[in-house]
Amino acid sequence: MEGYTLSNQKNVQTIEAHGGTLINREVSAEQRQVWLDSAHELPSVTLDAWSLSDLELIGIGGFSPLTGFMGEKDYLNVIENVHLDNGLVWSIPITLPVSQDKADTLDIGQKVALYGEDHVLYGILELTEKYHYDKTKEAKLVYGTTDEAHPGVKKVYDKGAVYLAGPIHLIHRPKHDAFTDFHLDPKETRALFKTLGWKTVVGFQTRNPVHRAHEYIQKCALEIVDGLLLNPLVGETKSDDIPADVRMESYQVILKHYYPEHRARLVIYPAAMRYAGPREAVLHATVRKNYGCTHFIVGRDHAGVGDYYGTYEAQEFISQFEAELGIQILKFEHAFYCETCGNMATAKTCPHDRTHHLHLSGTKVREKLRNGEPLPETFSRPEVAQVLIKGLQNSK
Ligand code: ADX
Repeated sequence: MEGYTLSNQKNVQTIEAHGGTLINREVSAEQRQVWLDSAHELPSVTLDAWSLSDLELIGIGGFSPLTGFMGEKDYLNVIENVHLDNGLVWSIPITLPVSQDKADTLDIGQKVALYGEDHVLYGILELTEKYHYDKTKEAKLVYGTTDEAHPGVKKVYDKGAVYLAGPIHLIHRPKHDAFTDFHLDPKETRALFKTLGWKTVVGFQTRNPVHRAHEYIQKCALEIVDGLLLNPLVGETKSDDIPADVRMESYQVILKHYYPEHRARLVIYPAAMRYAGPREAVLHATVRKNYGCTHFIVGRDHAGVGDYYGTYEAQEFISQFEAELGIQILKFEHAFYCETCGNMATAKTCPHDRTHHLHLSGTKVREKLRNGEPLPETFSRPEVAQVLIKGLQNSK
C-alpha cells in the first residue's frame, strides 16, 4: 500500500464504551420467536420514526449505558444537570412519549409491545414508570429556547403528555434498505477498527453533504489520527435538509475520489436530528465514543439551526465535559476557501479579510442545486455537486 502505513498497530485496544460496558439489548433468534408468538397478548404502543430510531440506538448500544427509555430521575438530572442519576454525563433526554389516553391503558409492571407505523414488532418495553413532564422546561433547558419555530422545540410541543420508561428488548432492527452496506452497529465498527489497525479514530457527524470545508477539517484531523469514521445522521431531519439517500451517494463519491481507501469508512448513524446545538454536540460525541471513536470533530455551529446558538457555543459547552466524556474533542474554527491564499483555511491560518473568502449560505447552496446550477469547485467537489443536482431534481 502506498503512502501512509500504520506501524506498530498489532494490539489495538478500543476505547471503553460510555459507562464501561457496551450495551446490547437485541434478543436472540429463539427469544425473538417467543416474543413474536406472544406479543398479541400484550398491550401495545406505536412508535413514530423518532422513537423507533431511539429504540434502535438503545438496542445496539449506541446509547450505552442506557438499557431503556429514561425514568423520571434520569430525565430530570439530564435536563437540569447534564448527567444521569448515576453521575455519568448525558445531555439529551431519551424518552418515550405517549398520549394521556394511551398511558391510562397501561399498568406499571406490564410488558408493552412496541410496533412501528409499518406494524412490525420492533421491541418490548418492561414498563417501570410513567410520568408527566414540563414541555416548556424541557425546551428551555435542552434547546435553550421555547420558540416553536425551532424544529426540536416543535417536536417537544407536539409529543404526547406522558413519558413511559423502562428497559427494552430489541426484537427487530429497523431496516435501512438503501444503506445496507453502511449499516454497522457499534460492536461491528469497533471490530472493524481493530481489523484496520486503527488505534485512533475521528468520528464525524454530519447531516449535510461533505463540502470542501467539511473535507478540510476531516483531513486536518486525519493528519493526526489513524482513521476517519464518516458517520452521517440518516434518521429524521427537517424537510429542507438534503435527503439521506442523496447524501449517502455523495459521500461514496467523495470518498472514492478524494480519500485514501484504507483511512476512511462510511457508516450510517440512524438517529433523529434534534438541532439542539451544544447539548446535541455532547450526545453526538458520546455516541461516537460508543461506536469506538477516540476523537470527535466539533466545528462551527455544530447541530445548530437558525440563529439559536452562537457559532462556537457547542465547542464551549462540550469543553466543560471533555474530561468526563473521555473522547478527545477536535474543535475547528469556521473553514472557508480563501481566493488570495488559494486554499482552504480558517482565521487561524489566513491573514486576509472576509472579502477574500468564499461564502455561500446553506439556503443559497440548496437553491442553486435545486435549479441545477453548478457550485463553485472551491465550495464543493464537482462530483459531489453532480450527485446532489441529480438527486434533488429526482426528488422534486
Ligand atoms: S451538523 O448539524 O451535523 O453539525 P453539518 O453537517 O453542517 O451540520 O456539520 C458537520 C460538522 O462540520 C459539525 O461539526 C460542524 O460544526 C462542522 N462544520 C460544518 N461546516 C463547517 C465550516 N465551514 N467550518 C468549520 N466547521 C464546519
